[in-house]
Amino acid sequence: MLRVGAVGCGPIGLIHQRAFQAHKGSKLMGVCDVVFDKARDRGETLGVPAYPSLKALLESQQVDAVSVVTTDTHHFEPAMQALQAGKHVLVEKPITIELTEGEQLVAEADRRNLELGVNHNRRFGFAYRTGRRWLDEGRIGRLGYLLIRQAQGGPYGTRKPFHLVWDMGPHMFDLVRFFGGEVLSMKAEMTDTRDTGYYTSIAVAMKLSSGAVSTLLFSWDSVFTKGLEYVELCGDKGRCTMHEVNQEACLYPHEGDESVIVRTDPFHGYQFQDTFTRRVHAFVDDLAAGRPPSPLGSDGLASLRLMYDCVRSFEEDRVLKPGARK
Ligand SMILES: NC(=O)c1ccc[n+]([C@@H]2O[C@H](COP(=O)([O-])OP(=O)(O)OC[C@H]3O[C@@H](n4cnc5c(N)ncnc54)[C@H](O)[C@@H]3O)[C@@H](O)[C@H]2O)c1
Repeated sequence: MLRVGAVGCGPIGLIHQRAFQAHKGSKLMGVCDVVFDKARDRGETLGVPAYPSLKALLESQQVDAVSVVTTDTHHFEPAMQALQAGKHVLVEKPITIELTEGEQLVAEADRRNLELGVNHNRRFGFAYRTGRRWLDEGRIGRLGYLLIRQAQGGPYGTRKPFHLVWDMGPHMFDLVRFFGGEVLSMKAEMTDTRDTGYYTSIAVAMKLSSGAVSTLLFSWDSVFTKGLEYVELCGDKGRCTMHEVNQEACLYPHEGDESVIVRTDPFHGYQFQDTFTRRVHAFVDDLAAGRPPSPLGSDGLASLRLMYDCVRSFEEDRVLKPGARK
């Protein structure tokens, strides 16, 4: 049984905490938040003890792992504290804001032989899992291109003018790596056509280690309610389209007349929230089986590096070659 302590009692923390409670292999031992009222309310909701800090939680409860779902600027401190106390960690995205902090977390987990997982939950979406499976089965073949488009409402956030990179970048660059491998080169363009003070649409052209080229477009120039995401893979055997994270995946083999369309049942079908639950449950299952809880802290760090590269490519108006990074 994996005993878990949870840090951060916002709305996303609740999804993680309920997921740990719902899994037969894990037990939520307690919650904490720097705003103790939030921890107390959460503890009452979930029927677990509440603490004003991770230190207090760790002093009172025996835990094997810590769930870090704090504000995105505050992942480093509790994650590092948990690792230094000898606990495995599952941290929300982005792994950290600062590169050096992400590097320190990954190094600390390695040094202590602890597991550090990151919540790149899109990998657990029904459509994306299906597309990845078809790719693994060789049904798409050798990739020629990967196209990713994510468009939602905005802007918001504190990191002007680049907050979109910090908001969606962890997921977007993780999807690029999930489907296409490492980024060998990239050129980013950004625009703020609504004069918001933020770059609200970002396009990135990339060459990937799989040999494919990729275009990534992510944007705050749309709305949340009218279709958010689309991914398309094309190889030498077929083309695959994925609609939303969880909704539909289609396979169009180049040979023959038959296409495969897989849709979630609209009544019992997957909700976006299920990607969190699946990710948390995979973390518990992986630890129980002695497997690294993929996606790992190193995947979080790889995405974070690409986010910085994306900003640098735009600011310096040049093609960057992350693949050449030592
Ligand atoms: N994976 C996804 O699809 C996805 C979606 C939305 C948000 N997120 C991420 O989830 C995280 C949480 O989001 P949220 O909307 O619940 O945030 P939130 O700001 O509403 O809640 C975070 C909580 O953490 C607490 N906190 C901050 N620092 C702390 C510390 N050092 N110790 C203890 N508690 C601390 C805050 O008081 C707050 O209650 C963020 O990192 C966000 O980027 C992920």
